[in-house]
Amino acid sequence: MNRKYRKTVIAGNWKMNHTATQTRAFAESLKAILPKSKWCEIVVCVPFVNLPAALKAFRDTRIAIGAQNVHYAPSGAFTGEISAEMLKDLGVRYVIVGHSERRQMFGETDEIINQKMHAALNAGLSPILCVGETLEQRELGVTMERITLQVKTALANIPADRIRRVVIAYEPIWAIGTGKTPTVEQANEVCEAIRTIIRKLYGARIARSVSIQYGGSMNEHNAEGLLAQPDIDGGLIGGASLDPDTFIAIVHAANQDHA
Ligand code: PGA
Repeated sequence: MNRKYRKTVIAGNWKMNHTATQTRAFAESLKAILPKSKWCEIVVCVPFVNLPAALKAFRDTRIAIGAQNVHYAPSGAFTGEISAEMLKDLGVRYVIVGHSERRQMFGETDEIINQKMHAALNAGLSPILCVGETLEQRELGVTMERITLQVKTALANIPADRIRRVVIAYEPIWAIGTGKTPTVEQANEVCEAIRTIIRKLYGARIARSVSIQYGGSMNEHNAEGLLAQPDIDGGLIGGASLDPDTFIAIVHAANQDHA
């Protein structure tokens, strides 16, 4: 973390978990244990159908609500899809773009992800762009090449004045939902490399201000070590974000004074 230049963002990604009723119960529990410190931004990314319940339940708090996906078109004949403007109109502030589960199971390419980034930014949302290598790619030694391609393609033709609204999440695919994590140094190395890519594309000032999260089996035990790294500015948390107590434990880790 480096709080002097950028905000720390702790975001929960519920994936396809929790009903609307469970969302309301989660919100009540979370509000009861929410720390006062304003140091980190807290985001909860819920399934589309739970967005109204989450927005209502967290209305008078500093917790921002996010979606987990968005379509790239502003409107049209796309049965079952949701546009960025629909999310913005509800009061949603963040949207996860390019999660590896969407890439792997739903065929999202780097080019589609670039279109979704444009759609989210055009609507005034803050995209959380996910990038990460497979285990095979890490073992082949092509992690940086893969990450560079993902970041550069996702950000193609996005102007500098919009980059401040982008959060990037480095999520090694082999660490997602597996309980395995890279060492804190390995995680920081890739986050630092992502910042270098941003610096080359947009200059040092913007690179310094972009929040880069780590994601993949982050939990209440390993969060503090990961977040103490200079280029890790938060976390995108799946499993450990489903329980208010573990999620808030990670928020507490982000509130430690390492900066
Ligand atoms: P996990 O998921 O924390 O359950 O590994 C992270 C993610 O997929 O964003």
